[in-house]
Amino acid sequence: MKKQPIGIFDSGYGGLTVLREIVHKLPEYDYIYLGDNARSPYGNRSFETVYQYTLQCVKWLFSQGCPLIILACNTASAKALRTIQQNDLPLLYPENRVLGVIRPTTELIGNYSRTGSAGILATNGTVQSESYLIEIKKFFPKMNVHQEACPMWVPLVENNEYDGEGADYFIRKNIQNLLQKDRAMDTVLLACTHYPLLMKKIKQYLPEHIRVLVQGEIVADSLADYLRRHSELEKRCTRTGQTNFFTTDSAEDFDKHAEVFFGAKIRSMHVSGIS
Ligand code: DGL
Repeated sequence: MKKQPIGIFDSGYGGLTVLREIVHKLPEYDYIYLGDNARSPYGNRSFETVYQYTLQCVKWLFSQGCPLIILACNTASAKALRTIQQNDLPLLYPENRVLGVIRPTTELIGNYSRTGSAGILATNGTVQSESYLIEIKKFFPKMNVHQEACPMWVPLVENNEYDGEGADYFIRKNIQNLLQKDRAMDTVLLACTHYPLLMKKIKQYLPEHIRVLVQGEIVADSLADYLRRHSELEKRCTRTGQTNFFTTDSAEDFDKHAEVFFGAKIRSMHVSGIS
């Protein structure tokens, strides 16, 4: 029987922090991870570029037999998901589905906050799209939501500086900026798949009473719920418990860096011709 894995896409390594939780929660399914490392980061790129790159990767994952794809990247979810869902999917693969990481967290964030004030830490692209502000308003119209773009955080993680002194300067600065926007803020969402790696330092600069939300577990729970509610699609996802990793850049480099995101050693394969 041909494998029909669940596709997990990210601009690079960050989506591995989401895949890790998904595999933990739903180990029976097959997964295929694609990191577009050759063109990452996406965080500062235009809407059109993020959309084109994401669509190319989505098409490749569909060509590998995926009935369902999760965009495990906030920037791609913010800038490409809606157009892909509304314009491309009905023409290309009407039976298949593409989901993002923004909706699962925006559906829940209000349940965590007592004061009704939350902060979003994200890439420039995610902040500019205002996707979090728009989506949270739908579920929690009275909530006050404040954003802070942290364009240096992904490069710090990608360059293995997440634990170094250089990281302190930027993390302190961005967190101070965010906190200044509303003293009542009691919940902060890490709205970028790389940021869980900075958790130690983020907690160091955030007051203790502020709750920090990460997306991995929330997205995994949401996927489990989605599969329960969509049995036709669920039946098409094969279950041999295998995960395969692909990168558009060097597989050797990917394997070197991936462990810190995924929590286990992996062996990836290079994929060319995605453009
Ligand atoms: N994975 C991206 C996100 O969650 C961050 C990395 C990038 O900028 O490409 O927004």
